[in-house]
Amino acid sequence: MKKSSLEEIIEKHKILICVGSGGVGKTTLSAALGVRAAQLGKKVLVMTIDPSKRLKIALGVGDEQSQGVKISKQRYAGELHVAILDAQTIFDEFITSAAGDSEEAKALLNNMLYQQLSTTLSGSQEFTSLLQLSKISTQDEYDLLVLDTPPAQHAVDFLEAPGKIGALFEEQIVRWFVGSDQVGFIRKVISAGTKTVFSLLEKITGSRFIHELNGFFRSIRSIQNKISEKTSLVQKILLDSSTGFLLVTGFDEAKLREAEQLNLYLEDKRYHMLGVVINRAFPKWFLNKISPQEPKVAEEYNKWVNYQQQREGIFKSFSSKWRKDIPVARVPDFNADVYGLDGIEVVANELDCAFITNHTNELRAEEQKS
Ligand SMILES: Nc1ncnc2c1ncn2[C@@H]1O[C@H](COP(=O)(O)OP(=O)(O)OP(=O)(O)O)[C@@H](O)[C@H]1O
Ligand SMILES: [Mg+2]
Repeated sequence: MKKSSLEEIIEKHKILICVGSGGVGKTTLSAALGVRAAQLGKKVLVMTIDPSKRLKIALGVGDEQSQGVKISKQRYAGELHVAILDAQTIFDEFITSAAGDSEEAKALLNNMLYQQLSTTLSGSQEFTSLLQLSKISTQDEYDLLVLDTPPAQHAVDFLEAPGKIGALFEEQIVRWFVGSDQVGFIRKVISAGTKTVFSLLEKITGSRFIHELNGFFRSIRSIQNKISEKTSLVQKILLDSSTGFLLVTGFDEAKLREAEQLNLYLEDKRYHMLGVVINRAFPKWFLNKISPQEPKVAEEYNKWVNYQQQREGIFKSFSSKWRKDIPVARVPDFNADVYGLDGIEVVANELDCAFITNHTNELRAEEQKS
């Protein structure tokens, strides 16, 4: 039997990253990808840092500390594992491993500012999930890692995160803070307009704040090299030919436009785009052609059919903008939240079909005809 392009994607890669705007179905499709890979005999780990624990609910994982839990009901040729990442634990572990057992590490972990920044700083969740991805990928325990990216306002935030965090730990910034006298220092903080630091100013007041801030930057100075090392390792992994991105989008105009912009960004950074999935592209029932007898029902049904045909035009124009080798696949809307392993298996099946009947294949078929 001919392999679907999804199967080929799973075969050829060690890391698959699902990116897209908020709420489009990244978590659901990451789980579905994991299920499909396990069905194909892979030992796969689906990783998520989603604070709303959607993956856990979707797959029915228990409440245990899930840093790599095997889904108990195994019915696949391979193995499906799930890790719900905890940003604070990963960040702390990283700091400890970077600074060793030193006083610096202890001072940093106890620093109030660190405790605030490590989880609230924009990009820290993304950074930690990439840290964990790089750690697990070097351990070589799984055939495939599927990374579900956290909810973000803009999908590119995820990939910008290492840079942002790296910048915080940059030598110049540290020097700038550590070398300051107290008064000038506060003025600099304010004039820098760094929102996070500024709002922290309100939480930790006066000399205590200055003490904490000075301590913070003095401590991180000792682990700067490790941070840059990690940031480059993460970049290397993201750019590797065995790492690929699947872009998930909704089917409304704004989401489609965001998907195009995200693709431009990925291309610019030379990440490997493997495919686009338009999630909830049409209602599931639309796949079963029916001919209602009752005139009123028939009228409503025909309105729907017309509406879907109009959307066909939108789909064609959207998919024509992609490189020919990038499949643009449509997954139906199941008209209900997709829950449990059974629900995800249904999505996995549809995802596979969507990659068989995708736009790229349609184009190829047309080319062969002409
Ligand atoms: N094809 C589908 N049909 C029906 N419901 C779906 C489908 N895909 C996703 N959903 C539902 O849509 C909601 C959002 O999906 P999901 O959590 O996977 O999105 P997300 O992109 O991960 O969101 P966030 O950006 O908040 O992390 C969930 O309730 C999920 O069950
Ligand atoms: Mg999610």
